[in-house]
Formats: sequence, C-alpha cells, structure tokens
Amino acid sequence: MAENVYVSELAAHVGEDVTVQGWLHNKRSSGKIAFLIVRDGTGLVQAVLSAGDVSPEVWAHLDELEYEASLRVTGTVREDRRAPGGYELSASDLEVVGVSSEDYPIQLKEHGIDFLLEHRHLWLRTPRQVAIMRVRNEVVKAIRDFLYDRDFVNVDTPIFSGAIGESAGTLFETDYFDLGTAYLAQTGQLYNEAAAAALGRVYCFGPTFRAEKSKTRRHLTEFWMLEPEVAWCDSECNMRLQEDLVSYLVARALEHCRPQLEEVLERDTSPLEAVVPPFPRLSYNEAIEKLHSLGSSIAWGDDLGAEDETLVAQDYDRPVFIYNYPRQAKAFYMKENPDDPRTVLCNDLIAPEGYGEIIGGSQREDDYDRLLARIREERLPEEAYRWYLDLRRYGTYPHSGFGLGLERTVGWICGASHIRECIAFPRTLNRLYP
Ligand code: 4AD
Ligand code: MG
Repeated sequence: MAENVYVSELAAHVGEDVTVQGWLHNKRSSGKIAFLIVRDGTGLVQAVLSAGDVSPEVWAHLDELEYEASLRVTGTVREDRRAPGGYELSASDLEVVGVSSEDYPIQLKEHGIDFLLEHRHLWLRTPRQVAIMRVRNEVVKAIRDFLYDRDFVNVDTPIFSGAIGESAGTLFETDYFDLGTAYLAQTGQLYNEAAAAALGRVYCFGPTFRAEKSKTRRHLTEFWMLEPEVAWCDSECNMRLQEDLVSYLVARALEHCRPQLEEVLERDTSPLEAVVPPFPRLSYNEAIEKLHSLGSSIAWGDDLGAEDETLVAQDYDRPVFIYNYPRQAKAFYMKENPDDPRTVLCNDLIAPEGYGEIIGGSQREDDYDRLLARIREERLPEEAYRWYLDLRRYGTYPHSGFGLGLERTVGWICGASHIRECIAFPRTLNRLYP
C-alpha cells in the first residue's frame, strides 16, 4: 500500500510511490497521455497518466471525469521544475471517490460577484480563496503569538449583551426570555475593561455584529475583531502597541505566506516591506488642515469618511495614526483630552494604498463623574452601565485599548478589493446564504 501524503509533503517522497487524495482542479489529454491537476488544500500537483500504465477501466473513465470530482491518485513522485509546485506524480492508479457533474457551477473562467457569493461554498475551493484563507489563518496565529509573548491573557467576552457598546445605530437585537432585549456584541471592550483590572493585560478576539446598512467594500454585518485592553497604558502607549502589532502581523504574513501573496494573489509585496514602526502620527486638527489644503470640504467635528482617509494617507508609505478626534465624532467612553476638552484621547489607524481604517482605539474615561455625564448626554440607559461605572468607583485606573478589524487587515495584506473575500461565509446587508 502506498502511503497517503499531502501535496505539500511531496518533496520528502521523491522516488517513492504515494497516494494523493483531493479534487480534480483541471485536466487535459493528448491521445495516450492524460494530465490531471489535483488539489488537496495544501497545493496543486499534476498527475500524469499513460494509457499503458493504468488499467483499461481507469483509462476508459478519464473522459467522464468532471471538475471537482474527488479522487485518490497513486503514483511515483518525480521532481519536475516545470510542473506546478515543482513535483509530478507518474500515476499507476486512480480511484474516483465522488463524481462531480458537468454542471459544476464554478468553471475556470470569470464569474460575476453575485454568482460567486451565491456559490460561496464552492467558490472557497478556488486558488485565490484558498490563498486568502491561509493568509487569514497566519494573521490570526500571529495575533495570538504576539499577545501571548507579551503576557496578555485571552478573556472571551459575551456575545449577548444588555448594554450598547459602540453606537445605538447599528445594533442587532434579540428577545432574551423575561429580561427583555439583548444586543449582539458590537465590541467586547467594556467587559475587558473589567477584566484588565483583574489581569492587567487582556484581549478578546471574536465575532462582532453591526447592523451596517451601508454597502461598502469594507463593511460586513458580522466580522472578527481583536481587542486588547491594557491597564496603566495611556494613549501614547496604546499607539506604540498598535504599530508593533501591525508591523508584526505584516512581517509574519510575508514570512509564511509569500507564495500565496505573490504567486496566487499577485500582491505587490514591496509596500508591505515598508511597514515598520514608527508609524507617522497626525492630530485630527492637522488631518483636517491637510484635507482642506487638498480641496476637501470636511467640517471640523466630522468623522473622516473613506475618501478623506485615502487622501490623508496618500503621502505615506506605511499606516498613519490620526489621533484626538472631536468627542462628538466618537464613542462615549473615550477620555476627555485635558489639553483640549473638545477632543478625546483616541486614534484611528489608517492603512496605506486606500485601504482605510483598520484600527480604532482610545484611552478610556476613568473619571466617574465625567463618564456618567457622557452616558447621560448620549441618553444611554444608565442602569445597564451600572457595572461599567463601578470600575470607576472601585480603584479606577488609567487604561487604553483598541479594536483591529481582522477582515480589513487581511484585505489590506492580500490586496483584496472587498473584505467579503476575507471571511469564509460573509454576512452583509443583503446576504444570509449560504
Ligand atoms: O472603530 P471601532 O468601531 O472600535 C470599537 O469597536 C472599539 N470598541 C474598539 C476598542 O477600542 N476596543 O471598530 C474597530 C475596528 C475598525 O477599525 C474596523 O477595522 C473594524 O473594527 N470594523 C469593521 N470591520 C468590518 N465590518 C464592519 N462593519 C466594521 N466595523 C468596524
Ligand atoms: Mg472606528
């Protein structure tokens, strides 16, 4: 019996007989020789079948073999520089495990985006999507490694919440037994402010829900957010952590996913090589001045839109911090800036190349009275924030944190034009299938 191996392991089996199990990605034949391209999720390998080397039954069935049929191919591994992946199988046997059909929806040609999204369960099998999922996997592992190495503790925060985390405008609501309405988490931050007082440095990393009614290339209704929360860390310290983290994530993607980025996604990796700390920092006021000089009509007090972000970032070769926004543009929990109380101690991190905001972060309001005043000003239900206010009554402490959008970060690293490709089953305003 030949050993079962993955395509990624073929290099260690040159000259041996092995079995590769996978799906038929492509095929062609010329008379007495057939070439099957088989994919197994770890790579592609070409299997060469000669009429004389396989049984007559196998040979007779080759013609009927459709794209994405599942199969086992047994053969001798040969090194071949011209073959995709560098190795080839001289096949001696082929077993079809599950047939496919000539109406397999995803053919090796261009399809419209709606068609692809409708067939996301099959679209996922294509090389570009496989490459993006591998980059995402690397970024997730890199996030956890970075934080673990710095002694952060992972604290998973609830998805059902009784309090509004970010803004009332984008809440998903659900009935919660006799207790009334629960909201799906827009953020885990508030809970991790409690956890940071217990453990010092914490993070949560999970799905986040926002009823975004906007159809943009950077909004999902369900996305993954990493949220570190750090005790005894001010806004400056918070930005240093962000630039170190983002640089590390990019470096890890370059280190472990270069073939996916360069060969499959055709990402120009030179802009990514430039992503090293320190990142440039612009105050909100400086950003507004700059935008005005570039012809924008943005008013002081407005949050930056996607076009403003692209304009501001265009002169920089790495991500840019914009810090200390007007308080009316940001969430209620951000700390008032003692040097200019119209603004709060916060930052967004804007990715280059037009990718826009990937992080939002801030120092948190740690003064009981100011926080209560903000909660009242925003007409938030005070009762639901009693526990949150407690954190300012019992040993309040300076602390900061941020949220990094996983799909936006992966989209930027991959050079994807829309973040819906960066999560396996995207949820958007008009899509709940598959
Ligand atoms: O700026 P946001 O809203 O910040 C927070 O939620 C804070 N509570 C985070 C914190 O301080 N702990 O969201 C943070 C990031 C954004 O910069 C963006 O990358 C991503 O989350 N994000 C989205 N990604 C995809 N689809 C959406 N609808 C997103 N909304 C935010
Ligand atoms: Mg934001």
